[in-house]
Amino acid sequence: MLVSYRPPIGTNDSPNLQSTEKLTVKSTNSTIFSFTVSRNSDGEKLWDTSLGGLLFADQYIQISTLLSTNQIFGFGENVHKTLMHDLSKYRTWGMFSRDAGPDSVGDITHNYYGVHPFYMGLNPNGKTYGVFILNSNAQEVTLGPAPHLTYRTIGGQLEFFFFPGPTPSEVIAQYQQVIGKPFLPPYWALGFQICRWGYTGVAEIKSVVDRTKAAGIPQDVQFSDIDYMNRYQDFTYNKGSPAWSGLPAFIDNLHKNYGMHFTLIFDPAVEADYDSFKRGISANASFIEWPRMDLVPTGIEDSYPYVKGTKIMLGKVWPSNNAAFPDFLDPQDETQQWWESELKGFVKEVGFDGAWIDMNEPSNFDTQPNNGTKQLKYNVGDLTCPIVGSDSYYDKAPYETVGVFNWGDNTYLFTDTLCMFASTMRNTSVFYNTKNLYGWSEARATMKGMNLARGNRSVVISRSTFASSGQFGGHWLGDNTARWADLQTSIIGAQEFNLFGIPYVGSDICGFNGPTNEELCLRWHQMGAFHSFSRNHNSINQPAQDPAQWPSVAAAARKALLFRYRYLPYLYSLHFLASINGGTVVRPIFFEFPLDPITPTLSHQFLWGSALMIIPVTAAGVTSIQGYLPPDATWYSVYDSYYGTNATTGSTTMYAPTTSLIPLFVRGGYILPRQAPAQTTVFARKNRFEILIAFDPKTLSAAGELYWDDGDSLFTDISSHNYHHFNFNATVSSKSTIIRITKDKSASGISLPALENIEIFGHPWIPALKNATLNGSPVSIDMSQTTYFPFTHVANITTTGLINLNNGQSWILQWPNTLK
Ligand code: NOJ
Repeated sequence: MLVSYRPPIGTNDSPNLQSTEKLTVKSTNSTIFSFTVSRNSDGEKLWDTSLGGLLFADQYIQISTLLSTNQIFGFGENVHKTLMHDLSKYRTWGMFSRDAGPDSVGDITHNYYGVHPFYMGLNPNGKTYGVFILNSNAQEVTLGPAPHLTYRTIGGQLEFFFFPGPTPSEVIAQYQQVIGKPFLPPYWALGFQICRWGYTGVAEIKSVVDRTKAAGIPQDVQFSDIDYMNRYQDFTYNKGSPAWSGLPAFIDNLHKNYGMHFTLIFDPAVEADYDSFKRGISANASFIEWPRMDLVPTGIEDSYPYVKGTKIMLGKVWPSNNAAFPDFLDPQDETQQWWESELKGFVKEVGFDGAWIDMNEPSNFDTQPNNGTKQLKYNVGDLTCPIVGSDSYYDKAPYETVGVFNWGDNTYLFTDTLCMFASTMRNTSVFYNTKNLYGWSEARATMKGMNLARGNRSVVISRSTFASSGQFGGHWLGDNTARWADLQTSIIGAQEFNLFGIPYVGSDICGFNGPTNEELCLRWHQMGAFHSFSRNHNSINQPAQDPAQWPSVAAAARKALLFRYRYLPYLYSLHFLASINGGTVVRPIFFEFPLDPITPTLSHQFLWGSALMIIPVTAAGVTSIQGYLPPDATWYSVYDSYYGTNATTGSTTMYAPTTSLIPLFVRGGYILPRQAPAQTTVFARKNRFEILIAFDPKTLSAAGELYWDDGDSLFTDISSHNYHHFNFNATVSSKSTIIRITKDKSASGISLPALENIEIFGHPWIPALKNATLNGSPVSIDMSQTTYFPFTHVANITTTGLINLNNGQSWILQWPNTLK
């Protein structure tokens, strides 16, 4: 019997993207079946299975294809040491969700928390394509010479989606037509966040918030890990302990007096003997179950009154007693409704804002093989799964993929999770088929529940993800270690998750496992300030590493975050665009320069959108780094070294001492919306708007846009959403500079701070600002706050009340220019 299950992902979006490229599928009529998928425009074969190797058997499907290019990106969740795969050697990457901290040092192809059977190919002619294989079983991919790819799965079916591009951004937008577009984070979720495992209580959390504030470091979100719970029970806080009883009042105070938000952790394993679970049973929620009554280890299960007589499969995670695993794929929706109502009650009780869903591979501690000598009975912490006999069909599959083989002896498909033969979806499927969807389905239920509970936009961060999870939340890259190698791979991971449709992503800044050190933590803060999800997180029993721990780290974090906060309108607009059209936020360099042969080889630098180049420092003891600026564009420094001037392109050595920002460059031809920063986004949103105009010296023009809403209302559908949209255009010539601003979409009831600062790079003529006009009438520029440097060609104009964006739809600000 071939196990068949089609994951219920996707959206009801009607396709609105028409590609200029068309693909043709052809199959052979000979006895050996093969097929090709090729591009009509130039015949490039994206898939060509004529090399053989197609096997279709029970619990084993394999297909191979020749690849038209050596430049392949994607597949996950793995730790890749380079963004582009190395096809000179054979490597087999596992895709099977697993609770394991990423290893960035060893040369291994481990599978981690999420599953993303998606990759992109970049032909040296600059055309890209994408391939998505929709399958939720344990699977793996071998990449190697020829070049070729072999894909294997041990269940389900082969269901392919080919995306013709031809540009990288089009590939991602086409992919998101299938899997759904990313959720729009609330504005506050783009602020800086602090967390750790092991806070002793509210007082300690308060001291972290206070010392961060005292150090002038912007912070929008504070987290609590599992420590806040009563005996690690979801939807409880430790009311009985003086250390935690003040949590709701503390959160209320953060909202009211600090302009901050609070995120709490939830684990899917719900202890089988307390109120939330009891309510789940009464609500007819479904849980992952033993497939038959005779298999239920009644010895232990009957000791839980709410479990007795059911087939619920109990495991053991953080709570002291056994726990059950809600099945969020419940086709009757009763599980989701119960989960939503638990979230609702808890939001009401505690007043938190975001949900961090952890351990949702799902993780179970100490699942053991049962070789028939033991009965299928277990003690707390000792769930056993059959590895012999007819019941072992799923748990001891004939081929277990590298998701098992890579982890050493005594590893099984069920290791660290539940038994594969468990029944799911109210007995219409098996865990073997649905495990990889667990985090996805929990994120879907949690995002819905949080939005309902709060009545406005929330944020969910999920450890396990699957294709399409980006609709329901973001992701952190898991339990990394405080090492330089982990800082490096996290830069690749964040780019990959943008390919996977999950742009709200980041790593544990300073490193989770192991003690960090001052320099690493400083550099990680400087880089992490440029990931959409920017959070310092630390493991239990490690020394504190919040940025105020060291004056040098505090200074670097403050500087990097104030830069981030200034450019948040640009970052938010990028997220907005991705949510409307599909796309990336943090972007690999080759996305913008696919014809430049160097760009596919770059792993450790990245872009925000099309316009901001970020080149992090990823090694100890250096004060300069080697970075690459594609010569096809003009790049203006926007950090401490030669601020505002044209940087040398190509591979160059860049100034990067710890006291400076990391190298940052703005691309000529773009206008970036900005806002004067503050300690939190709630306050920053009230500050003046600014724009940075970076002229392209060839066209002497620049353009950009701004999306702006209240940052908090639910975002369901762009056509009914209440938002402003602005277009910015600018030209410069020896005669005049003209800046056009048009508001082509107005929100109601969202008042906008005035645009009071315009910074211009690449303005080669002297501006006669005394003769400036706004919509044809003279406008007075405050010359005491305005500068122009004829050597650097940088102008900076500040005038209180310069442009009131609330009145009118279009503005033309212009001035004559004089001598060079
Ligand atoms: C594992 C998570 O990955 C980590 O971030 C968290 O701190 C611990 N669980 C404790 O909840």
